[in-house]
Amino acid sequence: MANVVVIGGQWGDEGKGKVVDILCPAFTDIVRFNGGNNAGHTVRFGDRHFALHIVPSGILQPGCRCLVGPGVVVDPVGLGEEIRSLEEQGISVRPRLVLSSRCHLVLPGHRALDLAREGSRPGGKLGTTGKGVGPTYESRAARTGVRLGTVRQPRRFRDAVLAASQDLERLLGAFPGATVPTSAEIDRWLEAALALAPMVGDVATALHPSSEPSRSILFEGAQGTLLDLDHGSYPFVTSSGCLAGFAAPACGLPARTIGGVLGVFKAYTTRVGSGPFPTELEDAMGEHLRRRGNEFGTTTGRPRRTGWFDAVAAAAAMRWNGIEAIALTKLDVLDEVAEIRLAVRYKLGSEELRELPDDSDDLAHVEPVYETLPGWQAQTSGVTSFSRLPERARSYVERLEELLGAPAVMISTGPRREETILRPVPPLRDWLPDDLLR
Ligand code: GDP
Ligand code: IMO
Ligand code: MG
Repeated sequence: MANVVVIGGQWGDEGKGKVVDILCPAFTDIVRFNGGNNAGHTVRFGDRHFALHIVPSGILQPGCRCLVGPGVVVDPVGLGEEIRSLEEQGISVRPRLVLSSRCHLVLPGHRALDLAREGSRPGGKLGTTGKGVGPTYESRAARTGVRLGTVRQPRRFRDAVLAASQDLERLLGAFPGATVPTSAEIDRWLEAALALAPMVGDVATALHPSSEPSRSILFEGAQGTLLDLDHGSYPFVTSSGCLAGFAAPACGLPARTIGGVLGVFKAYTTRVGSGPFPTELEDAMGEHLRRRGNEFGTTTGRPRRTGWFDAVAAAAAMRWNGIEAIALTKLDVLDEVAEIRLAVRYKLGSEELRELPDDSDDLAHVEPVYETLPGWQAQTSGVTSFSRLPERARSYVERLEELLGAPAVMISTGPRREETILRPVPPLRDWLPDDLLR
């Protein structure tokens, strides 16, 4: 069995949580490798609804082990609440969750700094999630951060946190009116962090094939390709690597560990926060997609910006990640649309572009060149086989496959686990056991 990375191909919120939830029974280990609780992954089955932020989505299927790799930044208060909420809903979490000792911790000062920076950026807000994720990665790179493994020595941990908090307080001093965390807040945070100690372990060792050769790993990406720190629309990006290639090395595993890459794409596009979005719809159609697709952030509740599918941006995501197969989500959201548009090229002034520009300012000024396809105006919600989709919906999927050069092996027709088409074709057939594909 291959180890597979599930990666977002757009600006996040593609439906990675749902996809991971469906695939995870075929894997022994589900691993988060980037981001923090800026991520919000929603999973629905029956009448149950879960929002996951740090805990891998695999936790909802019994049996698999869930791991949080060193590249993830952990807010102990947020994670503690997430674990408690899952356990209150009857999900076994603590015995199945391993948190890397190398994870950097999001301190209260990091959150305060995130908010303070957003309030005073000369070019306007980035629209961060305000979870302190960016400043935590800054501390990691500045080598002033605190790592989770230190909780195993409580006295040393407390000293390290107090020193790091003082350091952050000095940085906050540059922002008039910034809220400095109180000592009561830091005490509550320390208590939450120390409570994580029993779950702390060495993720690289736990996942290494020598520990148990029959293990198979599903890496659950957070954010999306176009939010990648280097390859995304900088500076309107998150602060970690979001590409599939990061998954293994970020966890201390060789690059060859990755056996397959599944890219998750929405049948249209959304984005939360600021930054260029060439196919954005700021009209009644955009509002229709937002309402029909329930496009409100899982983490912050913010309305998501909506637009047509952008095949220029998606093609870049295909190449950068080495995506071999596509999971296409939210096809049902287009059910009522009479004419569906697809950006196939851009224009920048008199120049025609087939590649995503590397500069955000250029990306903000491109004009998409659209191809128009007839909508199916029939219900796909809940359809579970490709042949039962309306012909025009099949044509839309086939056109996307052609533009992206990979098969849509999974097509999602509703938020619930059950509302999914799985197509038993390669490479999915090589990745999953037959019983999951039936
Ligand atoms: P993630 O961050 O990539 O895991 O995506 P989110 O969970 O933040 O956002 C995706 C949203 O779309 C969630 O509310 C899902 O329940 C919902 N969703 C996923 N797939 C489908 C689908 O095929 N149709 C509809 N209508 N909703 C879906
Ligand atoms: P999932 O895993 C959508 C966006 C924020 C903002 C930018 C920087 O649910 O797909 P940050 O708080 O990371 O410093 O914010 O990145 N962003 C996301 N957008 N889905 C996410 O995660 C995101 N994580 C960060 O909206 O534009
Ligand atoms: Mg999300």
